[in-house]
Amino acid sequence: MTALGKLLRTTAFQLTLVYLVVFALFAAFLLGYFAFNTRRLINEQIVGIVDTELQLLQVQYNQAGIRRLVGIVDVRSRRPGSSLYLVTTPTGEGLAGNVGSLEPGILESEGWVETAYRRLEEPESAEHNALVRVSRLPGGIRILVGRDLDERERMFHIVALAGRWSVAIVIVLGIVGGVFVSRRVLKRVDAMTDTAQTIMAGDLSGRLSVIGSGDEFDRLALNLNGMLERIESLMRGLKEVTDNVAHDLKTPLTRLRNRCEAALRSANTAADYRRVMEETIEESDGLIRTFDALLMIARAESGEVRDGMAEFDVAEVARDVGELYEPLAEDRGLTLEVEAKQCAAVKGNRELVSQALANLVDNAIKYAAPAAKETSGAVNGERSGIVVKADAERDRVVLTVSDRGPGIPPGDRSRVIDRFVRLEQSRSLPGSGLGLSLVSAVARLHGGELKLEDNAPGLRARISLPRVAMPPQQAA
Ligand SMILES: Nc1ncnc2c1ncn2[C@@H]1O[C@H](COP(=O)(O)OP(=O)(O)OP(=O)(O)O)[C@@H](O)[C@H]1O
Ligand SMILES: [Mg+2]
Repeated sequence: MTALGKLLRTTAFQLTLVYLVVFALFAAFLLGYFAFNTRRLINEQIVGIVDTELQLLQVQYNQAGIRRLVGIVDVRSRRPGSSLYLVTTPTGEGLAGNVGSLEPGILESEGWVETAYRRLEEPESAEHNALVRVSRLPGGIRILVGRDLDERERMFHIVALAGRWSVAIVIVLGIVGGVFVSRRVLKRVDAMTDTAQTIMAGDLSGRLSVIGSGDEFDRLALNLNGMLERIESLMRGLKEVTDNVAHDLKTPLTRLRNRCEAALRSANTAADYRRVMEETIEESDGLIRTFDALLMIARAESGEVRDGMAEFDVAEVARDVGELYEPLAEDRGLTLEVEAKQCAAVKGNRELVSQALANLVDNAIKYAAPAAKETSGAVNGERSGIVVKADAERDRVVLTVSDRGPGIPPGDRSRVIDRFVRLEQSRSLPGSGLGLSLVSAVARLHGGELKLEDNAPGLRARISLPRVAMPPQQAA
């Protein structure tokens, strides 16, 4: 499409055209109305003057006869800028007046009529128009009084000219304005299209320009930029997951394969095969667990579970998880205490919150147990126990899991939340490094956050979630 074609097809230009037509029609109507009324006003004025003069002449005639009438008409005819006068006998012979010629038959009927005329002293070619009134006096005398219409025509022409000019100016200004506005609009739209094309070509970092005028384009650009930001972060997340999956699942899969291959090559007895099969099953279970964890994180991060959220008591969840893990903790020489008496209601997905809390307790047991063994279950004379707490603060519900294990150095606390991150010191323990990622994703899904703090010694993991007021019957 040519540049002009593009310009003419913009909404801005088409709107300008519509406005232009409306304005031009309005201007034409206004001037037409004005011209018509001016004409009417001048006509009324002429009628008034002619009527007065005619009345006056009739009175003179009635009082003093034809001589007096002729005399007055003679005098009046000679005055500069005078009206038109003509007095004739019943047969049409002129007695007095300043009319040289009229259209034929004008004197035959009484009343108002517009006619072409020429004054006595004027040359044959001069012709004007006049509005005249013919009247018949007693005795058959005919009298004509009229006024020239030149003034009226001149006025009408002036208005008509003004009308034509103003319509022309409206059209020119309208087109210039339309082109100006359309070009501005087109420039912004073109810039947006260019950016969109860059983005479509694969560069997700492109953003629409915002010029700061706060107009509709700025608002649109801001919203679209927000959307692009979100898409970019989702894509980044997706890429990270894919990279992580590719990287972290490849190792165990390769291990699995190599073990099977080695067994095929060197195992001789049924017992050898059995051992290899058992190891393979164990490793596969680990892989399945990793997949499950990844899927659960993806579910929490996508926000798809948001629709099915319901209110529930987190304190109850804490008690359940505590009950579930207490035997395991005791097995490992740790105590597990739950402090969750007061109801702490949140709106969310109970299953995910339970899993998140279970992950924290699982970490506490897993990482604090070896330390507890070394100190035979007591640090500085204190039993090294795990404490699970659910507190309802003003507008927040806080879940904490504290242990007395080695803790996480401050520099690593934000890193361990990322997927597949495991600290060097825990490499010997089972796990895939996804536990805290899920906790963090669940906290974010519920509009809360996960914080890792120093429990001196040990780690205190803290999830804070927005609190809701539980209806009394459920709170009971
Ligand atoms: N309570 C804790 N004490 C000390 N270190 C911890 C504790 N919790 C987590 N960590 C460290 O943070 C790392 C990440 O924890 P995360 O729960 O994400 O993974 P994981 O426990 O290694 O594996 P998974 O939970 O998937 O089985 C752990 O490998 C460990 O190094
Ligand atoms: Mg863990």
